[in-house]
Amino acid sequence: MSDRNHERIEGSVQQVHIHEVVTRDGFQIEPHFVPTEKKIELIDALSRTGLAKIEVTSFVSPQAVPNLRDAEAVMAGIRRDPDVKYVALIANARGAERAIAAGVDEVSLVVSVSETHNRANVRRSTDASFESFGEIVRELRRARIAVAGTMSTAFGCPFEGAQPADRVASFAARYVDLGVDSVTLADTTGMADPALVLALCADVRERWPDLEIALHFHNTRGMGLANVLSGLAAGIRRYEACLGGLGGCPFAPGATGNICTEDLVHMLERMGYSTGTDLDKLLAASMLLRTIVNHDLPGQVVKAGKATDLHPVPESLP
Ligand code: COA
Ligand code: ZN
Repeated sequence: MSDRNHERIEGSVQQVHIHEVVTRDGFQIEPHFVPTEKKIELIDALSRTGLAKIEVTSFVSPQAVPNLRDAEAVMAGIRRDPDVKYVALIANARGAERAIAAGVDEVSLVVSVSETHNRANVRRSTDASFESFGEIVRELRRARIAVAGTMSTAFGCPFEGAQPADRVASFAARYVDLGVDSVTLADTTGMADPALVLALCADVRERWPDLEIALHFHNTRGMGLANVLSGLAAGIRRYEACLGGLGGCPFAPGATGNICTEDLVHMLERMGYSTGTDLDKLLAASMLLRTIVNHDLPGQVVKAGKATDLHPVPESLP
C-alpha cells in the first residue's frame, strides 16, 4: 500500500470483507444448469483468491431452484480452505437439516422485508418465516454453524416498492432476538440508491451499534458501487458480490446481476482499502466463469483491464 493510498482513506488501512455469491446467486438464475464439476472447479479456484466467504449453494426446494439441486454434491466435492468460510442459503427447516449434514460454516437465513416478495420467494408470510426460524437457529447453533439473518428487498420490492425503515428495523430486531450472528440488508432488484443506503444503514447501526452488518447489492439500475461507497460511509465493512456481475432472484421480476466482485475489489483497492484478495486471481476466475456459462458477463475490469494496465504509446506521436 502506498503512502498516497493511506492518505486517501484518512490515515489507516481499513479491511473490507468480501463474500462471494456466484455459485448461489449467480448460478440460481442461469438459463442452463451448470454441471456439478464446473461449480466445484470454480469454487476451488475462488478458494485460492483470499475471499473471506464463499456462498457455495442453497439448500432450498429443487423444484423452486432446479439449478442448485446438486447442493450436497457441490459441498462434498470442494476442497475447503480453513481461512475461508463456506456459506449456504436456506429458507426452511429442511434446508437447515441439509446444511448441517453438509457441514457448512455459516448459513444465510432468508426472509423478505416485503410481504409480497416473501410469498413469491418462499411461499409463506413473513410471520410464518420468523415463526419457523426459532427452532432453526437453535439447531444451527447446536451444530456450531454461524447464522446470518438476511433481509431481502430491504431497499425496495419489485411488487410493493419502497419498504418503511421501521419495518426493516423491526425485522432486524426479530433477527437480533433470535440470536443471529449478523444481519444482511439485501437489495434484491437494485432499488437502493446511495442516500437510502446511508439513511437505512445509519438507522440500523444506531439501534444496534455492535451488530455485525453486511450489504448485498444488485447493479440492476447502475447504482451498485455507488451504494457500496454509501455503505462504507455508514461504517459497513462487509459486502456480498458476484464474480462477473452475474446473479439475480428467480422470484423477483426484472432481477439482474449483483455488484461484480472483481470490479468492487478493483475500486476498493485503488481507494486504499484492503480486501485481502488477489485481484489477478479473481480476474482469472472471472475468465473461467465466462467459459463455464458461455455468455458475456456484465463485469467491466475483466474487459478493460485494471486501471494500472497501461497501453504502449503510439509510435506516430509528434
Ligand atoms: N430442500 C429440499 N426439498 C425441499 C426443501 C428443502 N429445503 N423444502 C421443501 N422441499 C420440498 C418438499 O419436500 C416438497 O417436495 P415434494 O413435492 O416432492 O413432496 C416440495 O419441496 C414442496 O415443499 P413445501 O414445504 O410444500 O414447500 P412450498 O412449495 O411451500 O415452497 C419453499 C416453500 C421454501 C420450499 C420453496 O419456495 C423454496 O425452496 N424457495 C426458495 C427460494 C429461493 O431459493 N430463492 C432465491 C434465493 S433468495
Ligand atoms: Zn441477490
